[in-house]
Amino acid sequence: MLFDTKNPVRILGLAVLLSVAMISAAHAEDDDDDKRGAPAMNTQWKTECGACHVAFPPRLLPAESWRAVMSGLDKHFGSDASLDPAAAAEIRAYLEKNAGSGKYAAAGKPILRITETRWFKREHDEVPARTWNNPKVKSAANCAACHTQAEAGNYSEHNIRIPK
Ligand code: HEC
Ligand code: HEC
Repeated sequence: MLFDTKNPVRILGLAVLLSVAMISAAHAEDDDDDKRGAPAMNTQWKTECGACHVAFPPRLLPAESWRAVMSGLDKHFGSDASLDPAAAAEIRAYLEKNAGSGKYAAAGKPILRITETRWFKREHDEVPARTWNNPKVKSAANCAACHTQAEAGNYSEHNIRIPK
């Protein structure tokens, strides 16, 4: 007999333990205390926009600014940074999707330069003129002169070294 109803052992409850595989949400950057530093990556952006300077993180400018930058790549701060239309469209979408908000957003005419934004000026107001003029710095846009991990998108204050 398959089921012996006279079986004195009554199973009062059956606990089914569902073993749920916990998927770790840990990021490779978890030991980095500037969590804003590393958004989703895009290879085209990293390669094309990192060819002449560090690939500036999308979060440091609002979407309107990126739109304006991407609309004028043939006249890009005195150089020609033109891209084929497919690459330009992909990069533009990536930049807009990961663009900055909050203190990184600015009202009015879009600002093309990170270095001309209000937050940038405030964060850097203690950097003396002689540092900006140091030939090892050359330009405020040369982030990597001081932010030693700029290449990796990390601008944490722990990784700043001002050139002497
Ligand atoms: C052919 C070289 C070249 C390429 C490629 C290039 N740039 Fe630039 N970019 C420059 C130069 C030159 C400057 C001005 C740097 C300076 O003022 O010291 C600049 C400046 C900038 C600035 C302003 C920096 C600041 O805050 O002063 C932004 C933003 C920028 N580039 C975004 C991009 C993006 C996005 C891409 C990719 C679509 C890109 N660049 C590709 C040459 C390039
Ligand atoms: C001459 C050196 C120098 C250059 C060049 C420079 N920075 Fe900085 N940056 C600093 C210093 C100094 C601070 C202030 C750190 C502090 O307040 O502890 C700072 C702060 C910051 C912060 C805030 C960091 C935090 O965790 O609070 C960001 C973001 C940043 N810089 C981005 C940039 C970007 C992007 C560029 C290039 C477009 C750039 N910086 C160029 C020296 C520099």
